[in-house]
Amino acid sequence: MEFSTSTSTSLPSVKTQALAVGVFKDGILSPAADILDQASKGAIRSVVQSEFDASPGSVLCLHAPAGIAASRVILLGLGAQDTLNAATLRQAHLAFAHYCVQANVSTAFSTLCSLKCPDASPTTLARLCASAFCTAVYRYDETFSHAKPAIKLRSLTLHVARNQTTHAKEGMAQGAAIGSGINLARLLGDLPPNVCTPSYLGQTARDLAKQFKTLKAEVLDQKKIEALNMGSFLSVARGSAQPPAFIVLRHTPSQAVARKAPPIVLVGKGITFDAGGISLKPGPAMDEMKFDMCGAASVLGTLRAVAQLDLPREVIGIIPSCENLPSGSAVKPGDIITSMSGQTIEVLNTDAEGRLILCDALTYAERFKPAAVIDVATLTGACVIALGHVNSGLFTRDDALAADLLAAGRQALDPAWHLPLDDAYQDLLKSNFADMANIGGRPAGSITAACFLSRFTGNYRWAHLDIAGTAWLEGKQKGATGRPVSLLTHYLLGQCQ
Ligand code: BES
Ligand code: MN
Ligand code: ZN
Repeated sequence: MEFSTSTSTSLPSVKTQALAVGVFKDGILSPAADILDQASKGAIRSVVQSEFDASPGSVLCLHAPAGIAASRVILLGLGAQDTLNAATLRQAHLAFAHYCVQANVSTAFSTLCSLKCPDASPTTLARLCASAFCTAVYRYDETFSHAKPAIKLRSLTLHVARNQTTHAKEGMAQGAAIGSGINLARLLGDLPPNVCTPSYLGQTARDLAKQFKTLKAEVLDQKKIEALNMGSFLSVARGSAQPPAFIVLRHTPSQAVARKAPPIVLVGKGITFDAGGISLKPGPAMDEMKFDMCGAASVLGTLRAVAQLDLPREVIGIIPSCENLPSGSAVKPGDIITSMSGQTIEVLNTDAEGRLILCDALTYAERFKPAAVIDVATLTGACVIALGHVNSGLFTRDDALAADLLAAGRQALDPAWHLPLDDAYQDLLKSNFADMANIGGRPAGSITAACFLSRFTGNYRWAHLDIAGTAWLEGKQKGATGRPVSLLTHYLLGQCQ
């Protein structure tokens, strides 16, 4: 997708296949819609009155209205004028892009980003609209026998005031990078688990490093993982015929920065299929456990965005990846394993495997003397019960880090909710036979999972995002969402100010 800005002073003479204007409830036209209405001798007002309720996300197409150079004018509903916000404008751009895809349009022009929006700066608005446009052209077609016709949509121009051009261009570049990162994360999530294996994730990291010169990939194999004494990670990998991979993908800004800040480390859970292991999961919807690598996918997607923007900050992605399957060599309930940190763990449920692979990655992260470590994981079904599919769960004892991540999530429209991590919950992880058990029972399941991870993060600032409810959609819309690539990239952009 190509992005550009226009400061044209004559909207009726803009040449594009689809020219989008906003319309509010009660027949209120945006300034751009009003200009086109006058140029077309009332064509817009009349159709709005007869058949357009302007509810958010609604779309109506006027073909080649007289007096207007564009091949189509697309009316985008924005709801009530006094409640206009960034979420509505993003939704309108998504609907616009979907319309363009379905109508085989290749060039699109939007006037919506010149509207005053109370909860987003012009840069943020351009960023959100560009990333929405990018993600609207995502379509999974890797594993069908018949090729689908190609999507033609290839450019979006945003109409902005002359003095906003720099801001809009900057926001669009960021949105394009975020959109590509989201789409990469979605594709990795959507691919079947017999294709997207630990080795496939490793190859994806290597491919990214080939594509972006600021990235360096390192993929540690079984032998190297053994040499690091990652006994906890390896206990999960043991049940599978697929070899595990420990991926390190590092972005070093191309311009040497004046005073080098310590890196920010992102850790992603990369279970490419979670059958539960010996503590086997029930059959229904088990296919969805191919999405159990969405934390890893979001880390790769974020690194892709970071590299495309050549962010002036060192960022390191760490991904422990393996399958969790039952077999004669699989870890068993009752087994006691020794983590890289030296702490011993009694495995009471082999389905609580995410924390077992993450704990060794969190120990590994210490070597980078990071400014902060953020892990991202489809960690607990309990988090889906607590927060549904709206908010990702955020766990941290660092209030400043929490504030930064929550603000990033709000700005990105990729929200998270701060959940508690009191020491009092730690008691639930007591074991009679090891330093800790890997489960804490049913109460507060997401919190005890975070408590488990916290025991490996003593030496740096740390936050944990449980994305079990937000990483993918179920049912008819089944597919990966690419969350929280946008939250993470917004956070990292904020750390570069
Ligand atoms: N990957 C799952 C978490 C999950 C379950 C995410 C359903 C999304 C939907 C994780 O590995 C898991 O199985 N967790 C267990 C932990 C339990 C055994 C303490 C869970 O949530 O049931
Ligand atoms: Mn599991
Ligand atoms: Zn899992």
